[in-house]
Amino acid sequence: LDPTLDLFAEIERLKKEKNAVVLAHYYQEPDIQDVADYIGDSLGLAQQAEKTTADMIVFAGVHFMAETAKILNPTKKVVIPDLMAGCSLSDSCPPPLFKRFKEEHPDHIVVSYINCSAGIKALSDVIVTSSNARVIVDSFPKDQKIIFAPDKNLGGYINKVTGRDMLLWNGACMVHEIFSLEKITKLKQRHPNAKFIAHPECEEPVLRIADYIGSTTGLLKFTQTDPANEFIVATETGILHQMMKSSPGKTFIPAPPTNSCACNDCPHMKLNSLEKLYLCMEYETPDINMDEELRLAAKKPIDRMLEISA
Ligand code: 13P
Ligand code: SF4
Repeated sequence: LDPTLDLFAEIERLKKEKNAVVLAHYYQEPDIQDVADYIGDSLGLAQQAEKTTADMIVFAGVHFMAETAKILNPTKKVVIPDLMAGCSLSDSCPPPLFKRFKEEHPDHIVVSYINCSAGIKALSDVIVTSSNARVIVDSFPKDQKIIFAPDKNLGGYINKVTGRDMLLWNGACMVHEIFSLEKITKLKQRHPNAKFIAHPECEEPVLRIADYIGSTTGLLKFTQTDPANEFIVATETGILHQMMKSSPGKTFIPAPPTNSCACNDCPHMKLNSLEKLYLCMEYETPDINMDEELRLAAKKPIDRMLEISA
């Protein structure tokens, strides 16, 4: 790629020429967020994908997100900067194993977190995200038996706040499991006025000491409205870009991981780059394609979620 190319200008040109919309998750690198038409959490992105009138959806996120956009828009082209951008949480729940687990519990309905493959969605009754999981789980009668997949941490948190006993699939996100309770506790002591905020994909002991727990959009809104001037943030670092942009006078400290060699970046989300974003728009590849029978089966529980969250 010509290093003198103005990628921001080129991406704007391609958006107009191809009637394309760029949707980006908050965990994308700052340049991608700055060039996006819409930045959001998983629910916001699914809602935008459902209502867009663009001919091409450029999904700056990971595979399951672009796949969800394709499930909702079978006739549109959905491109992703890097097809290898997967998700450890989604990978922790292979459809054949989950199918067997479901068959062992025939009296349970299946509520699945959107961070899963189309194969898992097709085996689910309703999809949830971290911003609507509580409301959707609450919408079922108290005695309804539920399997929650694939995130055991989000599932455990929802069990706690709803007083349920959902059966949890043993999956987790590699980014949200690395935070050190000990280091966060020490950091809180050194910053007594800081609020500690966490994503519900974090482990239970970390969530227990949080002042606020929410989806990426929830965390961002909290930092905008809460009077505190300092925040310790337990989620992927990409969200700090919007936090700093919308509250320039406030301080944001990424929560420390257990291993000091590790960082809070999602290696899948960060596979995408501005160069790859430009290339996928220019050449319209890689794009998402899927079997129509699978798409229709996976669409049902997504539609149900979007109806409840409208
Ligand atoms: P939300 O965007 O729904 O907060 O989910 C976070 C996440 O891990 C996405 O991969
Ligand atoms: Fe998956 Fe975690 Fe990365 Fe989100 S942050 S894409 S849940 S591995």
